[in-house]
Amino acid sequence: MRQPLLLSSVFIATAFAASCDRTFLNDFTALYISAQTRGDASLLTTTLLQNFTYTEQFQPANISAPTSILQKPLNITTYRRFFDTDLCTAFTEIIVTDPKHPYVLGVRVEGDGDVVRKMETLVTDEGDWLFNATGTAYYNSLEKWEPIPVIEQLSRTAIQAAGDAYFDRFGNVNVTVPFGTPCARLEGGAYTDAKLTNTSTCHLGLPSTVKLVDRRYVVDVEMGTVNIYVGFPGLDRASKLPAPDSHTFRVEKGKIRYVHTISTCEGHPGCGLNGTYVPLKG
Ligand SMILES: *[C@@H]1O[C@H](CO)[C@@H](O)[C@H](O)[C@H]1NC(C)=O
Ligand SMILES: *[C@@H]1O[C@H](CO)[C@@H](O)[C@H](O)[C@H]1NC(C)=O
Ligand SMILES: *[C@@H]1O[C@H](CO)[C@@H](O)[C@H](O)[C@H]1NC(C)=O
Ligand SMILES: *[C@@H]1O[C@H](CO)[C@@H](O)[C@H](O)[C@H]1NC(C)=O
Ligand SMILES: *[C@@H]1O[C@H](CO)[C@@H](O)[C@H](O)[C@H]1NC(C)=O
Ligand SMILES: *[C@@H]1O[C@H](CO)[C@@H](O)[C@H](O)[C@H]1NC(C)=O
Ligand SMILES: *[C@@H]1O[C@H](CO)[C@@H](O)[C@H](O)[C@H]1NC(C)=O
Repeated sequence: MRQPLLLSSVFIATAFAASCDRTFLNDFTALYISAQTRGDASLLTTTLLQNFTYTEQFQPANISAPTSILQKPLNITTYRRFFDTDLCTAFTEIIVTDPKHPYVLGVRVEGDGDVVRKMETLVTDEGDWLFNATGTAYYNSLEKWEPIPVIEQLSRTAIQAAGDAYFDRFGNVNVTVPFGTPCARLEGGAYTDAKLTNTSTCHLGLPSTVKLVDRRYVVDVEMGTVNIYVGFPGLDRASKLPAPDSHTFRVEKGKIRYVHTISTCEGHPGCGLNGTYVPLKG
């Protein structure tokens, strides 16, 4: 952990500013990827606030303990990362197809341009919601998430609004979600456009009585994406608690092109369904 610093006015000024530059977020994410590959959380310590918050599945965890995912070397197959300079947040989606133990991770980081204050990791593997890392890697590989040409970049407000509309629709059937054509949702290893029809396959299975709680954002204007962490009541049929959940939305020309989800089922294989997908009904 970072030593108590020079409490200079410069430090105080930066410590409480939420925004930062892409370089900070990019450098920390690169460091994270090497730490995760080696299974060595100590590589991060100089960039972590001394009292930083670490969670796995939204529960407080010890990043250096043998049970921490960061203490397990992972052979990362592929990853996507997104940076929000206004909030100084980053999100990385990591896929590990290693047959010895496949995983899909979501890693959300909050910093201040100097140190990281919070890291919230979602670790999905066998038994989590529709989990199939091979499927995740396969459908992911067919998708195009290039940076948005500058002339077509949307405001962060517009990008965030598209993701918020999706979640608002979960609690109100009258909300219109700006799904594009084509549109595809990758949920665990399940893909709504498995036949590659390139039509708008996101118009299905949305509930209308579910209130998502505690939304946290990473909006990347250059990538046209918003990642939202939420507590998702009812996703885990075997639990009364909101399931830890991540949704990443890619928004092109104001419309949702892709949705990627990562949802964990705490102690309930398949969130009480064991791989059988029953769309939520309103
Ligand atoms: C960490 O310490 C700072 C400065 O003392 C304080 O403002 C902040 O609330 C603390 N955060 C946590 C998670 O304890
Ligand atoms: C976290 O885990 C490390 C390694 O096992 C241990 O040394 C340390 O005391 C733990 N910290 C807390 C707060 O439990
Ligand atoms: C990592 O995965 C790649 C591709 O599956 C494989 O070729 C390589 O041997 C693996 N490396 C380790 C250290 O397991
Ligand atoms: C799911 O059900 C299948 C068939 O009943 C069983 O073989 C498998 O172990 C179950 N998976 C989990 C994670 O419980
Ligand atoms: C996982 O996805 C792959 C690729 O789509 C598919 O071939 C495989 O059957 C899936 N596995 C399970 C257990 O559904
Ligand atoms: C949705 O719109 C209908 C028709 O205007 C209205 O009757 C209903 O109360 C609305 N539902 C919600 C949740 O706002
Ligand atoms: C959908 O798009 C993919 C990738 O561009 C392409 O390979 C496939 O043929 C398209 N499918 C249809 C039905 O046009």
